[in-house]
This record gives sequence, C-alpha cells and structure tokens, in this order.
Amino acid sequence: MKIIEAQDYGDLSLKAAQYVIAKVKEKSNIVLGLATGSTPEGTYKEIIRDFNDHHTSYRYVRSVNLDEYVGLSKDHPNSYHTYMFENLFRHLDLPEDQRFLPDGNAEDLEDECRRYDRLIQSLGGVDLQLLGIGQNGHIGFNEPGTTFDQRTHTVALTRSTRKANARFFNSINEVPAHALTMGIRSILDSKEILLLASGKSKAEAIDRLLRNQKIDQDFPASSLHKHSNVIIIADRDALSIA
Ligand code: GLP
Repeated sequence: MKIIEAQDYGDLSLKAAQYVIAKVKEKSNIVLGLATGSTPEGTYKEIIRDFNDHHTSYRYVRSVNLDEYVGLSKDHPNSYHTYMFENLFRHLDLPEDQRFLPDGNAEDLEDECRRYDRLIQSLGGVDLQLLGIGQNGHIGFNEPGTTFDQRTHTVALTRSTRKANARFFNSINEVPAHALTMGIRSILDSKEILLLASGKSKAEAIDRLLRNQKIDQDFPASSLHKHSNVIIIADRDALSIA
C-alpha cells in the first residue's frame, strides 16, 4: 500500500484528479471504476476543470460504478445514476453508452448482478478503481461481515451507513435499506485501486487499515491488503490518528 498525504480536501482532490487524468492520457480506452459519496466530488470537479481547460478527452473511456441503491429510479435525485450524471458525466465527452452503473430498479436483482459482472468482464476488467471508505470500513457498499469472495450482489445496509448517508435525503427513513454493490472480489479484481479518505470522521478507519495487515471480514477495507497495487490518498485529518 502506498500512502500519499494531502494537506486538506482541496489538495486531496487535486492529487486524485491528476492521478486519474494521467492514467486516462496513458490509456485512452481505460476502464475506470467510479465511486460516489462526498469524498470524490472534489476529484470530479478537478477532472471537469481539467477537461474544460486542457481538453483531456474521455471519448474512449469506459466507466463502471461500484454501487447503486435498490428501489430508486435512475432519475431519482438521490440515485447514484443522478449523482454521476450531475457530478461528472454531463460535464465530459464520455459517451452515454460507455458509462455503466448497476440497475437497482431491475425486476430480478440476482440477474442484474450477474449481468453487471459479465459486463465488467466483457470490458476486460477495471483498470483503475476509485474508492471511498465508510466510517465502519465499508468499501462500495460491502458492509462489515460480508464475505470477501463475492462479486456484484445485493446487500442490506447497516443502520450506521444509512444514518451516514441520510444527509443526502430528507430523513433516514427515506434512505433505501438495500443496495447493489460490486463485491470485494470484484474490487480486488481491478488492476489498480485508488482509495480516498478525507476528514476526521475517517481517521479511525484509516488508522485501523494502516495499523495492521490483518485481513478481517468485520473490516471490509482490510481486504485491500490482499491487493498489490493500492494507493491511498488521505488528508491530514484522515491521517490524524494513524
Ligand atoms: C457510501 C458509498 C461508498 C462511499 C461511502 C463513503 O456508502 N456507497 O462508496 O465510499 O459512502 O462516503 P463519503 O465519501 O460520503 O464519506
């Protein structure tokens, strides 16, 4: 695991964006694994800024997202489809038919998970996976206790995750109870992983991740110790305990 320390959230966003942009320039048809949550918002802003100022092209990029809520329509304001459209896709030249997210509204969720796995495989796998981290160490929506050998699957969200994400909704009761997520196995299949962590609320999780190499199902991010190409960009606050 390589750690890059950023001064603050702005610096983290810039560093992460520069990393992604360099990879896109290196391989124009890169498969990017994208994440949601507030952490990557700044990174996406910097990517957009670069697109406007320097015209880095995303014409041949393919993107696959980590997760989506179950039961929200694609155009629901809190769906990850909407998040990605608003925060990134609508600002870039990345063609619509090259951007993929799991469909949390599919009639048969099990079929949808298998379709998503086949899709990722047909793209040749993820080259660079962007990740945030939950306060309880979840990655994607892989909550503590999930086995590490699953690819895309349906999960029941923990109360703490629903509470943490309630800020995007009117109340916790509106936060869906389930989600579709790439599994730990899908995440570990990526050729490279870039995990971003910002703020004091992530300090304990980052400390636990960095303090020991122990792989523990109760702490999903610890699965990343199995991967040989992980970079963590964390700001001072997120590194304040570690
Ligand atoms: C959600 C997302 C995760 C994200 C996590 C942390 O649960 N499914 O992919 O990493 O929240 O979010 P934030 O960056 O807002 O702290």
